[in-house]
Amino acid sequence: MWDFFETIRHRHSIRKYRSELAVEQEKLHAILEVACSAPSAGDLQSYKIHVVTSARDRDALCKAANDQDFVRQAPVCLVFCADLDRAQQEFGARGRTLFSLQDATIAASYAQLATVAAGMGSTWIGHFSEESVQRLLDLADNMVPIAMLSIGYPAETPAPSPRRPLNDVLVYS
Ligand SMILES: Cc1cc2nc3c(=O)[nH]c(=O)nc-3n(C[C@H](O)[C@H](O)[C@H](O)COP(=O)(O)O)c2cc1C
Repeated sequence: MWDFFETIRHRHSIRKYRSELAVEQEKLHAILEVACSAPSAGDLQSYKIHVVTSARDRDALCKAANDQDFVRQAPVCLVFCADLDRAQQEFGARGRTLFSLQDATIAASYAQLATVAAGMGSTWIGHFSEESVQRLLDLADNMVPIAMLSIGYPAETPAPSPRRPLNDVLVYS
């Protein structure tokens, strides 16, 4: 098991997977538990996580994601959906338009890091048709898919991608 900083250093988007290697149920469960341990506004966890493993549905998600082929290749795809109504009931408009999206996003971030700690890789997928994913997963109107994570054993070791220098990003006052 890697420590936190090693885990962060080893996380790179993986777009080639060893499709013949399934994700073990215990590992998937551990990843989902970590996702659900993320902080959320008012402890409401205003999201649902759809766990997609069937080849048919992964293929449909791949099409919804503009044919990004690794979505089909990875044995698991997690779809994080913001529950707008749940956050709105407690926090009004800010809950609906912001907190539900943040809750779902933080949960996805936790899942992405847990995936690395479990010896696997993932890619965050944001480039997809919301409507197609809503239709495929039969989502209610208040459930908005905000991110997907392809998960599996890597078949590539990508070089780290560049980051802006800290000075470009930080503002001290
Ligand atoms: C909001 C968001 C949307 C993204 N959408 C996609 C996507 O649709 N397809 C893809 O291949 N990568 C996608 N990525 C992954 C980024 O391209 C990747 O994280 C970035 O290039 C940095 O590379 P790294 O993850 O290897 O550090 C997305 C990342 C984020 C945070």
